[in-house]
Amino acid sequence: YNVPKAFNEVVKSYAPGSTERKEVLATFTKMYNENVDVPLYIGGEEIRTGKTKTINPPFDHKHVVGQYHEADKEHIEKAISTALEAKKKWANLAWEHRASIFLKAAELLAGPYRAKINAATMITQAKTVHQAEIDAACEFIDFLRYNVQFMSQIYAEQPASSEGVWNRLEHRPLEGFVYAITPFNFTAIAGNLPAAPALMGNVVVWKPSATQIYSANVIVEVFKLAGLPDGVINVVYGDSAMISETLLGSRDFAGIHFTGSTRVFNDIWGKIGQNISKYKTYPRIVGETGGKDFVVAHSSAIPAQVATALSRGAFEYQGQKCSAASRAYIPQSIWSEVKKLLVADLASMKMGSPGDTNNFVSSVISESSFDKLAGFIDQAKKDADAEIIAGGNYDKSVGYFIEPTVIVTTNPKYSTMETELFGPVLTIYVYEDAKWEETLVLIDSTSEYALTGAVLSQDRYAIEYAMKALENAAGNFYINDKPTGAVVGQQPFGGARASGTNDKAGSVLNLLRWVSPRTIKETF
Ligand code: ALA
Repeated sequence: YNVPKAFNEVVKSYAPGSTERKEVLATFTKMYNENVDVPLYIGGEEIRTGKTKTINPPFDHKHVVGQYHEADKEHIEKAISTALEAKKKWANLAWEHRASIFLKAAELLAGPYRAKINAATMITQAKTVHQAEIDAACEFIDFLRYNVQFMSQIYAEQPASSEGVWNRLEHRPLEGFVYAITPFNFTAIAGNLPAAPALMGNVVVWKPSATQIYSANVIVEVFKLAGLPDGVINVVYGDSAMISETLLGSRDFAGIHFTGSTRVFNDIWGKIGQNISKYKTYPRIVGETGGKDFVVAHSSAIPAQVATALSRGAFEYQGQKCSAASRAYIPQSIWSEVKKLLVADLASMKMGSPGDTNNFVSSVISESSFDKLAGFIDQAKKDADAEIIAGGNYDKSVGYFIEPTVIVTTNPKYSTMETELFGPVLTIYVYEDAKWEETLVLIDSTSEYALTGAVLSQDRYAIEYAMKALENAAGNFYINDKPTGAVVGQQPFGGARASGTNDKAGSVLNLLRWVSPRTIKETF
């Protein structure tokens, strides 16, 4: 089908003196002091329940940037009935019109809304401008553009017909509504999780993470301005247990699009199981969950390349990417060189408010995350089989700041080699060069997760061997690179095992989960 050819949005540099830098910093300052009031958004209506919670930047947690309103059960029920009402027209709208709305949203984000979506992401998610630009502007725009292209591929794929017989497939939306639960750490994922099912003709009830509400509210504004009809995407905030109980208990629940923790996803899966006989149709369950992503270097690897993969892979966005490197396996022969370069790189990383563009790292997202990380760091300071070679300090008096920290352990099953930490703590195990093959077995068996992983080597046989040995250990596998930074349209993203259902975000596979095809055979 004829749709505009998708392309990746070019990442802007935000160089000193550039227009984009001036614009984003001015928007940051304005939004920081604006005292936003975020309503629920149901059927195009802004609902202010009066039951509010404050929005605080994690790098300056005493500061208030605004408040959001929380839903009661009746609001969730209203969101369901409003969505189902909107579906009568939305599901029947020619797909080109649905596509146009999301392409328009992409253009708004690329132009007039770029500074606003980036600034909101910097303020409530503590991303530097460069990290915000890659996520909230570029990755989000890419999802919107590429999904339209993938949709057109899906619709174009038709079964063979024969003489006197015309076979066809109708890619109808699911019968009911889709529930989207989105995480704090990527504005792009927050936008894509409701947008992808909606593009395919579904209606959505969306619950953003409580720590991402500022940017969620900008997404709502962009979709509305792009012409998304009322009731297609409805946004609710509040008590997660009540919201999930109500939505998953509805006869019309038809699918979940989830990114978040493995524990919450397992819980949801269980609830869906309990309610299964209630539903009109078997729901689609699509989720991306945790990770314990690895970097393994072979003795042939280039030390500088390994050090960069570790420092960028583990510490960009404070390690709060589901893809972030959090355990590494380095051979003895190159360790001293890798260590020297890594420690020097970390020493050059400035930490502070994302409003100051000199900072490379900022705070972690919340007090509970801070406390968990500080606990593991304290333990490592005491344990005989662990040594902290960089970082190790933390302070939550102003914001939830944890220094980028590297633990070296002599125990490959040390707690921080196994436990998902979701923060700026990397643990390294140094192995004997001769134990390359055993190390790969160890990597595969150390974690229940399988999201991303990277192998660094100049030896083709070693690369191929690692790829086979680790074939189930990562849904996104990188050769001579860091394990983060998947780009829509280039590296479809997702993992298996405890990391999710591997329905690759940013691919045809994902969009196929949001249709319920009808096969038609017509005989002449
Ligand atoms: N695109 C993000 C990454 O791969 C999820 O880091």
